[in-house]
Amino acid sequence: MGTSTKRGVLDQVSTAIKSSQIWRSIFRHGYPDTPLNQSLIMMGNVFLHLHPVKVSRQAMRITYTWCLGGISFFLFLVLTITGVFLMFYYIPADQTAYGNIQTIQSAIAFGSIVRNMHRWAAHLMVISVSLHMIRVFYHGAYKPPREFNWVIGVTLFLLTLLLSFTGYLLPWDQIGVLAIQVGSNMANYAPVVGDAVHRILIGGIDQYPTQNTLIRFYTLHVLFLPLVAAVLMAVHFWRIRKDGGEAGPPPPAIHDAEMREPNETRELVGTR
Ligand code: HEM
Repeated sequence: MGTSTKRGVLDQVSTAIKSSQIWRSIFRHGYPDTPLNQSLIMMGNVFLHLHPVKVSRQAMRITYTWCLGGISFFLFLVLTITGVFLMFYYIPADQTAYGNIQTIQSAIAFGSIVRNMHRWAAHLMVISVSLHMIRVFYHGAYKPPREFNWVIGVTLFLLTLLLSFTGYLLPWDQIGVLAIQVGSNMANYAPVVGDAVHRILIGGIDQYPTQNTLIRFYTLHVLFLPLVAAVLMAVHFWRIRKDGGEAGPPPPAIHDAEMREPNETRELVGTR
């Protein structure tokens, strides 16, 4: 069989596959080599549609965002995956919780590394989200039209802190139990709502964490807070697209550009 005949058969097979109903139900648009197909693909995919169709090259510079938001999201994914692993072995009961953690550390395959990944990712996420917030503030990206996304961001920041706070109790070791005792007792001093908040956190009128506290913190830590955070992250990414992508560094002033030699101006535009 000649080469051209082989190619003819391959073309026919590829055309048959691409025009089949199954293929077209998954891939609804052509190859993304035209602006129209690029836009259609981004709009027609649940994950991709969170991203902008076009991204400004200068706002993508690593030295502009330091990818701190992306790193925060990556850490969130690491925490989710390692957290699910830990859930297979951890029971939120005051009689067993401490022992479960010891077992994970010493007797479960990969238990120690996965637990440590979870702990380190949690610490790093608090740091990366804080730095991301500072970066956004420094660039004035909280100003219109991004003020709503700033508010979503502040909520994400609080959720990150709450995830850290609730997770700290789960090993049911002395440092965790005492830290939550101190933390929840501090809530008592808040005016008007202090007593109610303390009871809600502790799960009763006790002054120290009990089984009620443990199950509350566990449910908040593995279900409620991550779910709310995941939904808000989706809104956060979608808002970035709706607000015209990254704020981006301002273009060089026309005056500056005119005052420079042509070569110098090109460099300035290229490097910002
Ligand atoms: C779980 C926490 C968070 C995640 C996963 C996250 C993720 C992201 C990502 C991926 C970006 C794109 C650019 C970049 O990487 O810097 C971004 C941008 C942005 N974030 Fe966050 N973020 C979080 C928390 C926050 C917080 C705490 C704030 C502020 C209070 C905030 C406000 C913003 C704003 C205003 C933008 C647009 C910035 C611009 O246009 O330059 N985010 N975020």
